[in-house]
Amino acid sequence: MIKILFVCLGNICRSPMAEFILKDMTTRRGIAADFSIASAATSNEEIGNGIYPPAKAELACHGIGTDRLRAEVAAKTARRIRRSDYAEYDYLIAMENFNIRNMMREFGDDPENKICRLLDFTNRPGDIDDPWYTRKFDVTYEQITAGCEALLEKLGY
Ligand code: 4NP
Repeated sequence: MIKILFVCLGNICRSPMAEFILKDMTTRRGIAADFSIASAATSNEEIGNGIYPPAKAELACHGIGTDRLRAEVAAKTARRIRRSDYAEYDYLIAMENFNIRNMMREFGDDPENKICRLLDFTNRPGDIDDPWYTRKFDVTYEQITAGCEALLEKLGY
């Protein structure tokens, strides 16, 4: 079982999109049983709130949360990272460098090299644009999808 926690600032846009894009990908490939996938925030801003409606709408454009993963997408609410996440997960995957700095503040150190950035699995490393500011949820969807595909490849799938 490979345990993955996606992390962003608010846990209402990018990291829940990553959570459900990867859940959808692993479900469609028949490998979902190999994974435990979740997402969390570094900030307290949106704790308890559901996925931001435009992010949910972008997922729905791709059939995620409509026919597939419907109940889980509807039930997801933002939660903050906690110290125990470091031991609990194998990969703590940030959307941008700022998330890594915030995780390091929470976890203190990364002795097992579990903290990484999603697009660094691809051949175009970098930050994922924050659609909260860009409003380009389609661009964020494509970036996250590329990152998740590269992640699965790196994991040997
Ligand atoms: P996320 O986007 O980190 O991708 O969930 C944001 C959500 C909320 C805020 C910023 C970014 N906010 O400032 O409340």
